[in-house]
Amino acid sequence: MKAIQVHQFMDLPSSLQEDGKVDALLSMNNDLPKPDLLKKNQMLVRVLACSLSPGDVIMVQGNMVFMHQPFPFIPGMDICGEIVDRNGSANFKNGDIVVASNGLIPIGGMAEYMVIDEGEAVILPPCVSKEQGASSSSAVTARNAIMDHVKEGDRVLILGGSGGVGSAAIQIAKTHAKASFVAATSTQLDLCKELGADQVINYKNVDWWTVDEYQQEKFDVIIDTVGGGNYYGRAEKVLKTAKKGGTFVAVAGDDPQPDCRTAWKVIKFFGNMLKNMIYTTLKTRTLPNYVPLWPHDLAKSRKEVLEWMEQGTLTIKLDGDPLPFTMAGVRQAFITVSSHHAHGKVVVKIAE
Ligand SMILES: NC(=O)c1ccc[n+]([C@@H]2O[C@H](COP(=O)([O-])OP(=O)(O)OC[C@H]3O[C@@H](n4cnc5c(N)ncnc54)[C@H](OP(=O)(O)O)[C@@H]3O)[C@@H](O)[C@H]2O)c1
Repeated sequence: MKAIQVHQFMDLPSSLQEDGKVDALLSMNNDLPKPDLLKKNQMLVRVLACSLSPGDVIMVQGNMVFMHQPFPFIPGMDICGEIVDRNGSANFKNGDIVVASNGLIPIGGMAEYMVIDEGEAVILPPCVSKEQGASSSSAVTARNAIMDHVKEGDRVLILGGSGGVGSAAIQIAKTHAKASFVAATSTQLDLCKELGADQVINYKNVDWWTVDEYQQEKFDVIIDTVGGGNYYGRAEKVLKTAKKGGTFVAVAGDDPQPDCRTAWKVIKFFGNMLKNMIYTTLKTRTLPNYVPLWPHDLAKSRKEVLEWMEQGTLTIKLDGDPLPFTMAGVRQAFITVSSHHAHGKVVVKIAE
């Protein structure tokens, strides 16, 4: 089968921007054997589309030691594909088109065939395109961030309104959680307004924590999809205290480009998050709640997100047209996602 392979960890986007270096890092192999050893409840799918996320960038950069895989590995974890073989699964049949993610071991998607766990798969509704289905993973994150923390009538601020997570979060906050007011930070003012934001702040011109209106009428929830920038500390000025229901949801974490290449760095990274959580639990009268978003209930949330897409109450914004499954297409996909300025989801069309 045809698949993209990563031969060594690389710095992105710089390594893929230099023509001379690319072949040693990333290659298209046309003769790989199709995966055929299925464990119980695994399924083999013919991949139709694969979208990339910042998580794939972290994987390819080798930034998380506990995610390291032997070289060469096939990148990509969020796919839409057709089931061609199953081991024990009675919930699906061959020929079903499913959306799935391989989030715990984020590899395998940039290939003609991929093995997935049955528990990760959800049937693609008939009127949702394969590319949109493959791109729904960030909406699953947005769904969990919003529906777990925002209630009807809340005032919500979404940091990073034009990214994969932010563009879905605006719509879900407005339509499904029924927030009374949704503000977003972005350079893409029209896009965020189109998605339903009541107000958009261009973060290049205005610091959101200094806006008078927000200091006077504070937010109930801030969803941070950008990370870094000591945003939790700054949020105090415009976010209610925990006692009054104020919650800061850290989707991106304190460092959006974490370097966890050693076990010690992993402990430090997660230790800092834990420290924030404990500290704010003790200071509910003066500080907002700090909640890191951990991946959870993925298949259940994916099903709900796909239903919303089918009903037309959630649209997945794509960053341009789907890219072709060629070296140039995959290279461009990694460059765009690793720039941290994608506007919507970046997807590669693997097959018809
Ligand atoms: N906790 C979890 O389970 C989970 C799951 C998925 C993703 N994540 C994390 O969530 C983060 C967002 O993911 P994503 O897929 O949405 O990323 P993405 O699509 O790459 O987001 C890029 C967006 O961020 C915007 N941006 C960059 N700097 C900004 C700033 N200072 N202020 C406001 N907007 C800014 C860019 O807009 P402009 O071009 O306008 O700057 C661009 O639209 C990543 O760090 C990812 O690792 C966490």
